[in-house]
Amino acid sequence: MNHFELVQGSGGPELACEGVPLAKIAEAVGTPVYVYSSATLERHFTVLRDALTGAGLKDPLIAFAVKANPNVAVLRTLAAVGAGADVVSEGEIRRALAAGVPPDRIVFSGVGKTEAEVAFALETGVAEINLESEPELALVNRVAQQMGKRATVAIRVNPDVEAGGHAKISTGKAENKFGVSFGEAERLYANASNMAGVRPVGVACHIGSQITDLAPMEAAFKKMRGLVERLRAEGLSVERLDLGGGLGAPYFNSATPPAPADYAAMIARTMAGLTDIQFAFEPGRMIAANAGVLVAKVLHVNARPEGRKFLVLDAAMNDLLRPAMYDAFHDIRPVKPREGDPATYDVVGPICETGDTFTRDRALPPLEAGDLIAFMTAGAYGAAMSSEYNSRLLVPEVLVKGDQFAVVRPRPTYDDMLAKEQSAPWL
Ligand code: LLP
Repeated sequence: MNHFELVQGSGGPELACEGVPLAKIAEAVGTPVYVYSSATLERHFTVLRDALTGAGLKDPLIAFAVKANPNVAVLRTLAAVGAGADVVSEGEIRRALAAGVPPDRIVFSGVGKTEAEVAFALETGVAEINLESEPELALVNRVAQQMGKRATVAIRVNPDVEAGGHAKISTGKAENKFGVSFGEAERLYANASNMAGVRPVGVACHIGSQITDLAPMEAAFKKMRGLVERLRAEGLSVERLDLGGGLGAPYFNSATPPAPADYAAMIARTMAGLTDIQFAFEPGRMIAANAGVLVAKVLHVNARPEGRKFLVLDAAMNDLLRPAMYDAFHDIRPVKPREGDPATYDVVGPICETGDTFTRDRALPPLEAGDLIAFMTAGAYGAAMSSEYNSRLLVPEVLVKGDQFAVVRPRPTYDDMLAKEQSAPWL
């Protein structure tokens, strides 16, 4: 469920975010603009937490994957209801801290942490550093000792399962760059427990993103349980099991992902009888995707005499990269739907390459130049992946709460854009 609904406006039905019509935001802030719903963010987090605790998983650490939506106001909204943060860079640690996420709820993942990033994480006192390889274990052990600290670490395992979904976002096969094998995990865990600079507290996995079937997760989680049991049988202490993120969000064109309650029940079933363990999760998309939309304006309807009808928007692939990068589907809704027969459009942006196509042959209600549309399910990996390609200004972000809204990342000016560069001495 989300909080983007048609409401009755003075001129007919119109799309609103909670109590604020999207057209009102577009008028105040301009387009394109990302709009997020606080109520949806909070709801998705609490639905997941209640499902997990309801299934008997005590006090889970739910660390929102900051990469999905790093906006500090979004993080602050989630931190206020108890979310931690799953981070993959010093920048993301700094964002989580700026949002008030307590360090003991921050999990630091990622295959290539630099020495400076490890030192920063240790200075911060993050809950756990997820190690993805033997060289990384050596690095963290060394940096921690230099700092007179002992790093709390987990070993990330690659469970070698096929998660389904797009190849570019699948992470859990042996050929992917993430994590170590089960055999390696046992060896590294035992080694780590004898090192002065690290204290291994658990194991972690994450098999992919936009997963719509529980079976591959269940297969991976069973293997993870086996690993915990083997480590414990060797006399090693395992206090935390991090099961990653990956649960899909509905994009309204395909299989509905499993309900959080079914996900939680599957975990409770798979882990039944495993005691004295804290579960950690790293959900991104299922919390943020349907909590955000990208509102854009129709610049032209370019109806070719040969038949194709191009809807040219003021948003482009630099603002929402997912269709160009993963052939992703985003539902497109008119902000003020007109009466009339649907037409078939190719929806494109103004960037000078063919990849700047959001969708082809999409049936939409009739649209005219000046109309507003909303790309739905754009709250995760939307603004997060935007760029200034074609020297287009980064899209602003707006957060709605009830009948209030606030610009939480303003649209930069062209002077701001140019001020980030400097000349070379010989120019
Ligand atoms: N934990 C780790 C270690 C991850 O690598 C990821 C996502 C997550 C958690 C969060 O996964 P989620 O719950 O959001 O599925 N840009 C792509 C998605 C890339 C996901 C990368 N890793 C897209 O737009 O579909």
